[in-house]
Amino acid sequence: MSFLKELNRRRTFGIISHPDAGKTTLTEKLLLFGGAIKEAGAVKNNKIKKGATSDFMEIERQRGISVATSVLAFIYKDKKINILDTPGHKDFAEDTFRTLTAVDSVIVVIDVAKGVEAQTEKLVEVCRMRKIPIIVFINKMDREGKDAFDLLDEVEQKLGLRVTPLSFPIGMGYDFKGIYNIWEKKLNLFSADNKQKVSKGVEFSDLEDSKLDEIVGEKAANTLREELELIDEVYPKFNQEEYLNASLQPVFFGSALNNFGVKELLDCFTEIAPTPQPKKAEERLVDSKEETLTGFVFKIHANMDPKHRDRLAFVKIVSGTFKRNAPYLHVRNGKKMKFSSPNAFFAEKKEIVDESFPGDIVGLHDTGNFKIGDTLTEGEILNFKGIPSFSPEHFRYVNNADPMKSKQLQKGLDQLMDEGVAQLFTLDINGRKIIGTVGALQYEVIQYRLEHEYGAKCTYENLPMHKVCWVDPDDAKNEEFKEFRRVKQRYLAKDKHGQLVFFADSGFTIQMTQSKYPSVKLHFTSEFE
Ligand code: G4P
Repeated sequence: MSFLKELNRRRTFGIISHPDAGKTTLTEKLLLFGGAIKEAGAVKNNKIKKGATSDFMEIERQRGISVATSVLAFIYKDKKINILDTPGHKDFAEDTFRTLTAVDSVIVVIDVAKGVEAQTEKLVEVCRMRKIPIIVFINKMDREGKDAFDLLDEVEQKLGLRVTPLSFPIGMGYDFKGIYNIWEKKLNLFSADNKQKVSKGVEFSDLEDSKLDEIVGEKAANTLREELELIDEVYPKFNQEEYLNASLQPVFFGSALNNFGVKELLDCFTEIAPTPQPKKAEERLVDSKEETLTGFVFKIHANMDPKHRDRLAFVKIVSGTFKRNAPYLHVRNGKKMKFSSPNAFFAEKKEIVDESFPGDIVGLHDTGNFKIGDTLTEGEILNFKGIPSFSPEHFRYVNNADPMKSKQLQKGLDQLMDEGVAQLFTLDINGRKIIGTVGALQYEVIQYRLEHEYGAKCTYENLPMHKVCWVDPDDAKNEEFKEFRRVKQRYLAKDKHGQLVFFADSGFTIQMTQSKYPSVKLHFTSEFE
């Protein structure tokens, strides 16, 4: 198959949701359709169990298992679908943010009863910032939940999206009769006993057809007609271009558990979802159709065996063909490297592959050469943008508990930070090191891994800070900036790239600082224009 054909058949996306909305169930049903797994339950076992926060080893173990399911690939209607797994556990939110830099689109799963939840808001905000095309799937229609129109309003308001329903439910919960598929003009009837089976849709080009009343009952048929009329009047028409430039988001309804509405979602997805997208590098925009290889590391997974410190670096191919044993430039190191056993991912396994194409993810064995964000090319100096750090929510000083092992501690901390386990800051005033994380769990993970993999011991000291803000150095020369640096010197530090950050103990402090020093720009992510 030609390079362009390979490229055009790839769809690389992520599924995001608040924990428990049904992401794992939906993933599994998509894999069943793709014939990639034979029975339900395969993905589920890899899920990081909720509520397991006290048992971080169990979480690490499960993270280890989940290497194989970090990328789930299958073929559907001749399209190669790559699902990038995003951890649902909120303590790993930073992993999810980074994975979003490697997807070309996302599906957002929302629980019909719970509506838009906190984690979804955060993740969708990142998608909006990056203009990632989104499809919304409202799940658990077999349960009592919010009114469909109210939910659409909520999605618009809380997530800042502009929605257009492409399917619409007939009743819900006990009264759930099925879904009218606006996209295909078909009615799909739900029956609780057709679990796991795919119901065949009845086609309705004319909704006035009295057959509709016979099938769903007169009342439900009339309600549906009215609702569809309202949708027609109120919501914008679906337009693929608007979806692709992230200004319009189609919505589907269904029940992942009952395998209902999932095929419709997948059929529409394969038709409308974007092919591998161009990506901005600091130097230029790289088009996926370019034939020379470029790619970037968006995730590093540590080997779970402490005796072997090798890791797996996940590289998203942006352009060109990745070939086994070909020499590629590791731009940051300025070194050429060859990879004799690049892994490609399938539903339940990984395999060594000879060639991969844009949109694909390859897993490269790494002994410590890679950092998140690193770029590979055939020789061109390129640095892909867009793996920003977000402000952590927990901060602790890290102290060396074994003075004989300070080198090991330093090395361990550096490598764990390269993997993106947490963020390290160094205070300007005294050089003390501060670890910032999204969840408290990471502190235990770091302590454990430092000891078992690097032979170093550390203790922590709590630092009651609210957020870090990255400081734009553009105005570094002006008097106000100098004043800011002088007054706030105890709260200034450098991140791992040497970028200046400001520690704020409350949202109020940020506001006050901003109004006192209006020309000093404070940012909530490490990347700003
Ligand atoms: P997550 O990955 O987003 O965290 O969610 P997950 O798929 O694990 O689903 C969370 C719970 O919601 C599971 O129940 C799952 O069976 C249920 N669920 C998913 N889709 C539907 C649906 O369409 N309808 C209904 N009624 N339930 C749904 P659980 O009891 O937590 O787990 P399990 O014991 O079923 O595995």
